[in-house]
Amino acid sequence: MAVKHSAPKGTFDVLPSEESSRELVATHAGKLLDAAGYGRIETPAFEETELFARGVGESTDIVTKEMFSFSDRGGRELTLRPEGTAPICRAYVEHGMHKDPQPVKLWYAGPFFRAEKPQQGRYRQFNQIGAEAIGTDSPLADAELVVLLDELLRGLGITDLELRLGSLGSPEVRASYREELRDYLREHESSLSEEVRGRLDTNPLRAFDSDHEGTREVMQRAPTILERLDGEDAEHFATVRSLLDAAGVPYTLDPSLVRGLDYYTRTVFEFTCDRLGAQSGIGGGGRYDGLVELLGGPSTPAIGWAAGVERILLALEDEPPLRRPEVFVVCAEPRRAFETALGLRRHRISAQLDLAARAFKGQMKQANRAGARFAVIVEQDGSVKLREMESGEQRDIDPADLPEAVIAAREA
Ligand code: HAM
Repeated sequence: MAVKHSAPKGTFDVLPSEESSRELVATHAGKLLDAAGYGRIETPAFEETELFARGVGESTDIVTKEMFSFSDRGGRELTLRPEGTAPICRAYVEHGMHKDPQPVKLWYAGPFFRAEKPQQGRYRQFNQIGAEAIGTDSPLADAELVVLLDELLRGLGITDLELRLGSLGSPEVRASYREELRDYLREHESSLSEEVRGRLDTNPLRAFDSDHEGTREVMQRAPTILERLDGEDAEHFATVRSLLDAAGVPYTLDPSLVRGLDYYTRTVFEFTCDRLGAQSGIGGGGRYDGLVELLGGPSTPAIGWAAGVERILLALEDEPPLRRPEVFVVCAEPRRAFETALGLRRHRISAQLDLAARAFKGQMKQANRAGARFAVIVEQDGSVKLREMESGEQRDIDPADLPEAVIAAREA
């Protein structure tokens, strides 16, 4: 019995008509990051589960609830990558990149997987573009990366952006702040949500993320880590801020910005866009000065970000134009149409032909529907006309000069 299938929950197909806007985003990002000296890296779509459990953090939502994990036939525990930073640090250590000149600047693009509740802007397979600078603790790197993400988004025409900026301090400051916050939360335990109470010991900072009313009220009066930053952390953060001011990138200080991954230290940031509604986070990141060491490498400071491609597309105000063929070959004789189209393509002219045995008139209609800029009309006697579809202007062409004539008309 035949059965109809649908794409799995929270996933989607990208149809050809939707591809050109994705390509635009990818090309823009590639050019921008390449010009800033970031080299593209690709890592596998799945990794050992342990990498994410250690790297992202045992108590995070990602690890406790959102991973697509499985055992392979050899009994290895594997997980479809929910994010790219832990895999890149794994690759940095595995390939001895700490021996290369530092920092190692990398960028990536590809699919990621999280078993989240699907809604607009939140999917179970989604695409990220990300950048990481590994092997530098300079605040210049923090500022460079924030500016790059700002340029990536603004360069695509996304304007109603807000940049939220915070600092989590060094692990030591964070640890003592965590204690202070835990004590404060214990004092107000009865007002907190069950989830926050359950995570008081493992991850009290996540209480800032809660949308439970009682918890939110308690959090408004909670001590913030920005008030606790010590000498070097405070200085680092002040330098990042002054560099962003100098670059003309506006931001809002957000002492409650914790982000959902455990590896962050010092600077954290997130771009939000109101057009996106509930899933307003379009891209974010921060420093993760302890992650490379945690994954078996030398002590190596690093910083990076990732942006969601689908959220970028949702935030784009103007749809990019559909890709259209330059030429549609119209010819009653199929073999001749075939040869003419191939000949044009060899000259890097995008050319289509009828593949559905349409009559001459039907082919003209099809040329229109495909949005072709020109029709190359090949008559029975072999004579050729070049027709500009929009104006309807038409002229005879020497068949031997066809590609040159199209190229000249294209540039006219
Ligand atoms: P993240 O904030 O978890 O960070 O994800 C980055 C971006 O990916 C989000 O801002 C959002 O646009 C997109 N995204 C996340 N989950 C989904 C989803 N379920 N559906 C659609 N889009 C989604 C990270 O992943 C870190 N690795 C970023 C980083 C790099 N930090 C340092 N380096």
